[in-house]
Amino acid sequence: MKLLIVGGGGREHALALALATDDPGHEIFVAPGNPGTAPFCANLSIAADDIERLVRAASAHSIELVVVGPEVPLALGLADALRGAGHLVFGPGAAAARIESSKAFSKDVMASAGVPTAASEVFTALQPALAHVDVHPEPLVVKASGLAAGKGAVVCITRAEARAAVTSMLGERAFGEAGDEVVIETFLQGEELSVFAVTNGTEIRLLPSAQDHKRLLDGDTGPNTGGMGAYAPVAIATGPLLDRVEREVLRPTLAELSRRGAPFVGVLYAGLMIAPDGTPNVIEFNCRFGDPEAEVILPLVKSGLTALLVAAARGEPLPRIEVHEAAAVTVVLAAGGYPEAASRGDVITIPDDMPDGVTVFHAGTRTEADGTLVTSGGRVLAVTAVAPTFEGALERSSAAAEMVEFEGKQMRRDIGWRELERRSR
Ligand code: AMP
Ligand code: GLY
Repeated sequence: MKLLIVGGGGREHALALALATDDPGHEIFVAPGNPGTAPFCANLSIAADDIERLVRAASAHSIELVVVGPEVPLALGLADALRGAGHLVFGPGAAAARIESSKAFSKDVMASAGVPTAASEVFTALQPALAHVDVHPEPLVVKASGLAAGKGAVVCITRAEARAAVTSMLGERAFGEAGDEVVIETFLQGEELSVFAVTNGTEIRLLPSAQDHKRLLDGDTGPNTGGMGAYAPVAIATGPLLDRVEREVLRPTLAELSRRGAPFVGVLYAGLMIAPDGTPNVIEFNCRFGDPEAEVILPLVKSGLTALLVAAARGEPLPRIEVHEAAAVTVVLAAGGYPEAASRGDVITIPDDMPDGVTVFHAGTRTEADGTLVTSGGRVLAVTAVAPTFEGALERSSAAAEMVEFEGKQMRRDIGWRELERRSR
């Protein structure tokens, strides 16, 4: 098949590799792609949010399926524009993508559908928001409603911190338009889990569940990032828990979106907080694969990925996929200065003698005219290992991550600590 993958990060490298592995006969275009996709795909130098040029490229290259990686083009209506031009697309239209691009909308959908989530209120004016903070129990969470690259949620231990967060969003517009609407919600206890449901709008196929590590530093400390590492599968994601997630979270949400005239086609990513009593509370929904979660869940798919994405995009019954009985761990290597001000242009060395089962996914890299690989974004690489056991995958991805060199490299050395702790009990 002729495929077009939209995006240029680690997730899109993982998508391209998984689809190429699924069927080596695919001809894969990536827009814009990165130096990791260049050796086996045709990179098109079109930005992921340039809707007009992407639609033209899909037509020019007779693309048979477009897979959209990031949330921004989905929120801008890329899938609608492509469908309007007669293309088959894996990814929701703008109306359904609001489940991610507006936390206020997402909360409203969950309330209508009876989906478990933190109690919340939405504010667009500073004074009422501050008044609400003053009577809210601590801790509490303040969120910019719009898209903020994973950095729009502030967990506040005290009301004073919450007042500061609300003021920076609604008063000082620190998140621009994304923070003109603010959600204030109660703090949820428990353990986080990312669940990925491929859907044609009604039917669901779950991919392996994963756990991300959002904070920059070991011990889940430091600032929030886009994600510093992930692993899959996760032991807490048992069959009974996932059944409950399907029944109480995924199906009601998809039904409510359809009822509102915005059926969701693509991958619905539920960011959950599993409460101590087992309730799967939704922290947020995303309308796409997670990054870096994609770099662990996609390498675990053994076969059937293309058929699944095509069937979902066509609204047809979803075939089953086969998944490797193995574990995957990815360690993200971030640039110096990330997440505030990532340094760029640092020379990257990736040795040839990586351990078995290791793939280095490119995220923020660039090749200079003379062929030198340099850093060009906050999250630079995601070093994934697949192995028969979690411990094996962890050991290999950590060892491989240490072997890659560039000035200012930041990485966590405790990815998967919860799983490790569980397994040593
Ligand atoms: P979000 O951008 O909504 O995914 O939030 C980013 C991170 O903030 C999440 O991954 C959680 O670790 C944390 N978080 C968000 N909302 C809550 C909540 N209501 N209770 C506890 N932690 C939260
Ligand atoms: N890893 C978190 C996200 O993709 O939003």
